[in-house]
Amino acid sequence: QVTRLWGGRFAGGPSEALARLSLSTHFDWRLARHDIAGSRAHARVLRRAGLLSAEELDAMLAGLDRLEEDVASGAFTPVLEDEDVHTALERGFIERVGADLGGRLRAGRSRNDQIVTLVRMYLREQARAIAAELLDLVAALADQAEAHDDVAMPGRTHLQHAQPVLLAHHLMAHAWPLVRDVERLRDWDRRAAVSAYGSGALAGSSLGLDPEAVATELGFPSSAENSIDGTAARDVVAEFSFVAAMIGVDLSRISEEVILWATKEFSFVTLDDAFSTGSSIMPQKKNPDIAELARGKAGRLVGDLAGLLTTLKGLPLAYNRDLQEDKEPVFDAVDTLDVLLPAFTGMIATLRFNRERMEELAPQGFSLATDIAEWLVRRGVPFREAHEIAGACVRACEERGIDLPELTDADFAAISPHLTSGVRDVLTVGGSLASRASKGGTAPERVAEQLERLRGEVARH
Ligand code: ARG
Repeated sequence: QVTRLWGGRFAGGPSEALARLSLSTHFDWRLARHDIAGSRAHARVLRRAGLLSAEELDAMLAGLDRLEEDVASGAFTPVLEDEDVHTALERGFIERVGADLGGRLRAGRSRNDQIVTLVRMYLREQARAIAAELLDLVAALADQAEAHDDVAMPGRTHLQHAQPVLLAHHLMAHAWPLVRDVERLRDWDRRAAVSAYGSGALAGSSLGLDPEAVATELGFPSSAENSIDGTAARDVVAEFSFVAAMIGVDLSRISEEVILWATKEFSFVTLDDAFSTGSSIMPQKKNPDIAELARGKAGRLVGDLAGLLTTLKGLPLAYNRDLQEDKEPVFDAVDTLDVLLPAFTGMIATLRFNRERMEELAPQGFSLATDIAEWLVRRGVPFREAHEIAGACVRACEERGIDLPELTDADFAAISPHLTSGVRDVLTVGGSLASRASKGGTAPERVAEQLERLRGEVARH
């Protein structure tokens, strides 16, 4: 028996072509558990509004329990004629409790207020799971930072050697954006935690239902202030999708470095066998596929957001069927992060760093030139002049194919009388790192404090 939700004014059923176009159960079925939870809450407010007897409520709740078991076991599944998750579950409910009682549950609610609420329930759960995965990744970065807290590497700007930094400092620079992503998810939840039940199709309900009671039962601190906004807004879905895209972009920036670092030319890292792949033709290959997939999936996550925003642009109030198109992109974002984050964390946790190689390169490319300039400034030389003098040191080295520490005291004196042999104190990687000792700098004590604060963030959330 097929139960359409809106048969009354139609002489015939929908064409098969329409049914195929309209169908959403292949993606909205994941909301079935939330739909049933919403139905329980709705049945209780119907009872409180005097629209159900106590026995009818009990029978409804028992029917919903049976339906939930059959959904969970796979005994009940949607069919083509069901159109969407709500229709399918109403059919299943009526099959279990009969048409008379089953037909009473829908009073005062619409699929429009249902779907918004279910999507929010689902995304709030997913946001918590994603935040936990992100914190695992932050912890993996913190572990790697701690294990390499004395390793120097070339810090880069424009991908050129700039100044030496601690590897731990660099790794934590990737961790902080992820901490902010966790905060974004937490902050998003405040706006997502509003139930739309009671908004009806768009105007609210005449049946004396209590939207706040439904909200509370479904774990929402409040219900919608405006029933039109309640049913038509999707900014909460778009914002979730933005955070997912931001996470993807953040991972893609780590990925790009892992990919570069794993090249023969850099030789900064070796990937663990369990988190890298081989080539079907080249026996020697070890490829950073996880990082490449993360970089690629960042594009997909940005696409999910762009598609969703484009769907919403210019859409008039209130509900329009276009809004059904919110779910596939945001579910794709959830599923993408779900497969990506554990693999990514495994890759980071098992990276082996080539500390000799990193330390060997740290002072190269005249990355200590700024240290000369700042040493001069500490001796009273104006920075503009100090910059010129340090630049002249670099030029002298380049002409002779040597590095800054190889300049003799006579060379220094010839470049500027300000350059006494004391400048050699800062011409080591260790001296350079130690001198960057203000808050947020790469000096070892600052980095140790930073690591403690990062660990604190992981523990706090
Ligand atoms: N499946 C729809 C959606 O996902 C909800 C149903 C509303 N349908 C309707 N004809 N008003 O948005």
